[in-house]
Amino acid sequence: MQGGTGERKDGPGSPRAHTPPVLEVRDLARSFGGNRAVDGMSLDLHAGEILGLIGPNGAGKTTFFNLVAGSLAPDSGEIRLKGVPIERQPAARRLAMGLGRTFQIPRPFAGMSVLDNVMAAGQNQSGENILRNFLQPGTVRREERAARERALALIDFVTLSHLADAPARVLSGGQRKLLELARVMMAEPAVILLDEPAAGVNPALLDVIVERIVEINRMGVSVLLIEHNMDMIARLCGRIVVMAAGRQLAEGTPGEIMANREVVEAYLGEVTP
Ligand SMILES: Nc1ncnc2c1ncn2[C@@H]1O[C@H](COP(=O)(O)OP(=O)(O)OP(=O)(O)O)[C@@H](O)[C@H]1O
Ligand SMILES: [Mg+2]
Repeated sequence: MQGGTGERKDGPGSPRAHTPPVLEVRDLARSFGGNRAVDGMSLDLHAGEILGLIGPNGAGKTTFFNLVAGSLAPDSGEIRLKGVPIERQPAARRLAMGLGRTFQIPRPFAGMSVLDNVMAAGQNQSGENILRNFLQPGTVRREERAARERALALIDFVTLSHLADAPARVLSGGQRKLLELARVMMAEPAVILLDEPAAGVNPALLDVIVERIVEINRMGVSVLLIEHNMDMIARLCGRIVVMAAGRQLAEGTPGEIMANREVVEAYLGEVTP
């Protein structure tokens, strides 16, 4: 099971050979009171890989993402992005360094347009610096135009062009998940953490989401994917890590994981959404 000898060498989600992990997590831990939500979790995400992260409800998957992305501080543990320790960096810095994430429950600015929601996720815009805005208005305008074009291209990429000017509040659950994908790509990340991108999505949009994740991965983005939909995991991932009670329970190919008795037992009695 360990060692990934059964990894697929072609197709989506396969790691590039001979490259160091783009994301390395070691012994990450975080408790809430006496509840060890993440209890010594380690994993490596290889460059070019789509790695699945599965586990029963309450296993600590979202908490793990919050620790890696920086919205929650760990009690202990190490996180390296492209070899650089990031566990003490604030979330915004981790994003600027190339680590993007989406939320299990999307939180768009409901009153803002889809376009403005995507543009708000952009990085390093000079217009945010009031002094530069005053001294170099031409540069700021050019950058804003480029950001707008990029946002529109990403909205097209996630098939939401017809809704670019609509307020985000009119979007369906599935469309909100697509908006999340456009938003996370706006910052040009090297790694993205996707928290249940298919939860509550109807079958037609599910195929769009799967295809877009494959495309994003082909662009060179490494993906860590939390998902309860095993069919989707099997389609996208060459390798899966199983989390239970805050730590890694198993690791292997989709075939190995689905044949693993411990994994099946961890899920027994679970009613997954
Ligand atoms: N902010 C918080 N304060 C207190 N407890 C929390 C907090 N966030 C998570 N927990 C607890 O940590 C544990 C792990 O929750 P988490 O949301 O990470 O699980 P999950 O694997 O993402 O589950 P699901 O598949 O249902 O999304 C749960 O017991 C949860 O109640
Ligand atoms: Mg969760």
